Amino acid sequence: MKHLLITYHSKEGSTGRMCERVQKGARHPDIEIEVRVRLVGETMAEDMLWADGIIFGTPENFGYMSGAMKDLFDRTFYPLEGQLEGMPIAIFISAGNDGTGALTSIRRIGNGYGFKEVQEPLIAVGELTDEILDDCETLGMYLAAGLEGGIF
Ligand SMILES: Cc1cc2nc3c(=O)[nH]c(=O)nc-3n(C[C@H](O)[C@H](O)[C@H](O)COP(=O)(O)O)c2cc1C
Repeated sequence: MKHLLITYHSKEGSTGRMCERVQKGARHPDIEIEVRVRLVGETMAEDMLWADGIIFGTPENFGYMSGAMKDLFDRTFYPLEGQLEGMPIAIFISAGNDGTGALTSIRRIGNGYGFKEVQEPLIAVGELTDEILDDCETLGMYLAAGLEGGIF
């Protein structure tokens, strides 16, 4: 069975609410994969090695990913160097008014790991809408279905 890791950080709760829906989509009853959800601070290199696909969720802070998400990369880059080449990933972001800085920073570091972004990123700007939350669920479902079906 394929493994999907969802790792996220949320200070005020918006990214957490998005994560709940991403997780719900990934746990769709018709999709048989194993899903593991971790706060970034509790995500270890072993979790990333266990995964066949990873979804990263972060707020945008100061035009960048959150410090906690950056810490995950700081902690795991060298222990995992060369071992996650081609890892299918997706990204969701909660932002006050932009979000592109967080996306760009994750993509840049992701290139170093050799991640392959297999879905359009989801950036929620401002208040979360039902539509954005539905999109979160779809994102989780697509990545899970793609892993199960061996598409990625
Ligand atoms: C310290 C700090 C810095 C922030 N910097 C940005 C920023 O650069 N761009 C932006 O669009 N939003 C910024 N925001 C707003 C957050 O990205 C936004 O409120 C987000 O929804 C928070 O997610 P959370 O509820 O999961 O913590 C910042 C918020 C904080 C607390």
